[in-house]
Amino acid sequence: MTESTRTSPADSDAVPTAEPFDVVDLIRTKRSGGPLDSDAIGWLIDAYTRGYVGDEQMASLAMAIFLRGMNRREISDFTLAMIASGERMSFDGLGKPTVDKHSTGGVGDKITLPLAPLVASFGVAVPQLSGRGLGHTGGTLDKLESIPGWQAALSNERMRAILRDVGAVVCAAGSGLAPADKKLYALRDVTGTVECIPLIASSIMSKKIAEGTSALVLDVKFGSGAFLQDIEQSRALARTMVDLGTDAGVATTALLTDMSVPLGRTIGNALEVRESIEVLAGGGPADVVDLTIALAREMLRLAGQPDADPERALRDGSAMDTWRRMIVAQGGDPDAALPMAREQHVVVADRSGVLAEQDALAFGIAAWRLGAGRARAADRVQAGAGVELHVKPGDRVVAGSPLWTLHSDEPKRFDRALAALEGAWSVADTAPERGPLVVERIG
Ligand code: URA
Repeated sequence: MTESTRTSPADSDAVPTAEPFDVVDLIRTKRSGGPLDSDAIGWLIDAYTRGYVGDEQMASLAMAIFLRGMNRREISDFTLAMIASGERMSFDGLGKPTVDKHSTGGVGDKITLPLAPLVASFGVAVPQLSGRGLGHTGGTLDKLESIPGWQAALSNERMRAILRDVGAVVCAAGSGLAPADKKLYALRDVTGTVECIPLIASSIMSKKIAEGTSALVLDVKFGSGAFLQDIEQSRALARTMVDLGTDAGVATTALLTDMSVPLGRTIGNALEVRESIEVLAGGGPADVVDLTIALAREMLRLAGQPDADPERALRDGSAMDTWRRMIVAQGGDPDAALPMAREQHVVVADRSGVLAEQDALAFGIAAWRLGAGRARAADRVQAGAGVELHVKPGDRVVAGSPLWTLHSDEPKRFDRALAALEGAWSVADTAPERGPLVVERIG
C-alpha cells in the first residue's frame, strides 16, 4: 500500500488530503492489465461515493476494466465495496425463507408478475425490488403501475409486513441500497462501459446481496432482445453472478434463457399485466407458463421445497389468490379494468405460410416507440401502449389475417413503430427449428 496525497495544482490554497491511495496509480495498474488490491478497491468505491474520486477518473478506470477485465477476487471485492457503500437489509425474523428472482431483462418479460405470487403461495417470502424500464426493455414497476391505485413506493416496515402477511412484494428499491452502484451505473451509461461482465455482475449482485435475500435465481437472457446477445457472453455473466452470490452466502443459481423472440403474446405495460393474469388463471401462452414454472421450481428448490408443484398452484387458484392479496396490499384494485390505448393499428399478412421470424429487439423498439417505454428517466409511459402478437414463430398465417396489433394513445407514433418492424419478421413456407427456451441451468 502506498501513502500519497492529492492536491489540485489549480488551487494552491487547497489543504492536501491524506488518502491511502492515488487513483491515478490504480488507473495505470488496470490500464496495464494488473489486478487491483482488495484495500485499493475498497478505498476506490468509498472515495468515489463521497466524491473524492471524480467522475472523469472513475470513467477512465471503468474503461480500463472494460478493456482489461477483473479476476474473480477483484469482482468479489468490487461487489462487497458497493454493498458497503449503503444500507444492508435483512429479512431475518420473518419466519419463512426468502427467495428472489432477477432477470437481465428482455422483451415481453413479465415473468415476475405471475412468478412472485406463485412462489409466495407455497409459504416462501419473495421480496422483489424492481426498477422502471429504460430503452426497449420494460420495467416491472411500470407494468404494475398500470393497475389502478397500485403503489411502488413502500417503507421497509411496510415491505416486511406484506412479506409476512402475503409473502410477495414488488416495490421500488430505496436509494439507500448500493449508492455507489447507482452513481457508477449512470456514469457507465454515458461512457460506453455498460456491456462489461465484471461491471454488470458486480452491479446486479451488489443490489441483490444488499437486499438481504437468502436465495436468488437469475434469469440470464441471450438473443437479440437481451442485454448481452451472445450466448457465450451470457453464460459467462451467469457463471460470474452465481459465483458472487455463492461467495456472499446467498444460495444462487441461474437459468440461461432464449430472448431472440418476444416472450408471450404481449409487449407493453397493461397488456403484459393482462397476460400475467391469464397465466395466474391457469391459461396464458406456453412460453410464459413454461418459464414461470421453470423459475418457480428453481426458487422453491432453493427454499427447501424440491417437491412442490407450481403447476398445481396455477390450476387450483392459490397463486391467483396470492396475486390479488399482493395487489390489494399495495393499494391496487385487482378487479379494476386495465387501461386500454386510445388507438389501434392492425398489421395483416400479405401472404399465407408460416411465421418464420419475429425479432425480439425490433418488437421491443416498436413497443417503446408506441409509448410503452421511456427514452429518458423522467419520461412518462403510456399504460395501454404496446404490441399484441396474434402469431408467434411456427404459427400458420393466412393472407389478410392479423399478425399483430399496435396500441398507442397517439396515432402519430404508428409510423415509427412500423419502421422498427421493417425486416424484423417474415412469412415463409416453413419456419426454422427453434432451440429450447431454457438452455441450461448454472449453479
Ligand atoms: N442492470 C444493472 O443493474 N446493472 C448493470 O450493469 C446492467 C444491468
